[in-house]
Amino acid sequence: MYQGKCVILGVTGGIAAYKALDVASGLRKKGIIIETVMTENATKFVTPLTFRSITNNPVSVDTFAEPKIWDIQHISLANKADLILVCPATANIVGKVANGIADDLLTTTIMATKAQVVFALAMNTNMYENPIFQSNVEKLRKLGYGFIEPVEGILACGASGKGRLAPVEQIIAETLIYLHRPKDLTNKRVLITAGATREAIDPVRYITNHSTGKMGYALAEMAKRRGADVILISGPTNLVPPPGVTVVKIKSAREMAEEVFRYFDQVDIVIKSAAVADYRPAVAVSHKIKKKDEDLIIELSRNPDILYELGKRKDKQVLVGFAAETDNLLANAQEKIKKKNLDFIVANDVLVPGAGFGYDTNIVKMITPDGSIEEYPLMSKEEVANKVLDKALKIYNSRYLE
Ligand code: CTP
Repeated sequence: MYQGKCVILGVTGGIAAYKALDVASGLRKKGIIIETVMTENATKFVTPLTFRSITNNPVSVDTFAEPKIWDIQHISLANKADLILVCPATANIVGKVANGIADDLLTTTIMATKAQVVFALAMNTNMYENPIFQSNVEKLRKLGYGFIEPVEGILACGASGKGRLAPVEQIIAETLIYLHRPKDLTNKRVLITAGATREAIDPVRYITNHSTGKMGYALAEMAKRRGADVILISGPTNLVPPPGVTVVKIKSAREMAEEVFRYFDQVDIVIKSAAVADYRPAVAVSHKIKKKDEDLIIELSRNPDILYELGKRKDKQVLVGFAAETDNLLANAQEKIKKKNLDFIVANDVLVPGAGFGYDTNIVKMITPDGSIEEYPLMSKEEVANKVLDKALKIYNSRYLE
């Protein structure tokens, strides 16, 4: 599947540079051609010769070096790339690209390419947290650049915190996801709900849950990358929406219901990954409730079950639900499929480490109305998103195209 694809591996000057060798080697095993471009600083950590031996290809450093065959090197590299992976990516390279600086071979190549560029970040925690760096990342994300976030751990400087390069296997897996991007959802409209809802008690307090929206945002990102027209209806979250997606921000379940119903007739696939509050305070008091000596009882009213309503209205749409459970996972999920007239449900046990709220990973089972169950191991939320989209598309195609 990846045979003959070309990845330009940009290596910048960080202590994690040696790990890029394992990334290069893992990608080569998939049949991918790797051409390495190193910054001057990177060559102080690992020699070009080491990358040349691992990749079996020449390694470039200097913009003005005499090429073996005459061409303008940064343009030819930029054109032949199916993907540019910068690994490790320092704060410096991100800052340069975000501000349009192209002063060496790697930055000029990035500037000249039309291929996807992905940065696997690695740096000191304080540099990572620096608002200047974070605003550079946000700017590039909005322009469609990809990021593989660093992980927590002991850093080269002895400090401990977020900044270590993500594990090599994860970088390889995410690179493959970026490379394998069939535009198989072109001409499809996909509606995704994400995050938690907030149900107001008074102007300063609300009821909510632990959902962060990561699963829904990963779904939106993957669907967009695969060519879909994406509508993301999102509860409050700090996540940056993927570029090119129509984002509708809501707070309460009732607001979410209104927006979902507004778009429902126009879409082909609906994926309800949001954790919708089932109840809201019966009365949202318009002033701040002052404390008294006695206990306070808040009466709750039922919120609409959005997915249940969609199941009743379902016409051509493929309807996908999520079920976050703590016990009786399969039985509860199966009941939800029937009750809500779903095409399938994505069930996860939120008590298992690595699955559910706040993690970048998930462990899911996909269950269909006929009772068949597909079980998946621990995967990144992006990988889970692709599996969900694969299945939804397959159902759509079998229903409408054959
Ligand atoms: N859902 C919804 N509207 C609600 C509650 C849930 O659309 N008011 C959707 C969720 O987005 C999810 C699915 O229904 O796709 C299952 O949600 P979940 O909270 O697991 O189940 P509930 O139906 O609320 O049942 P319970 O809380 O009893 O587990």
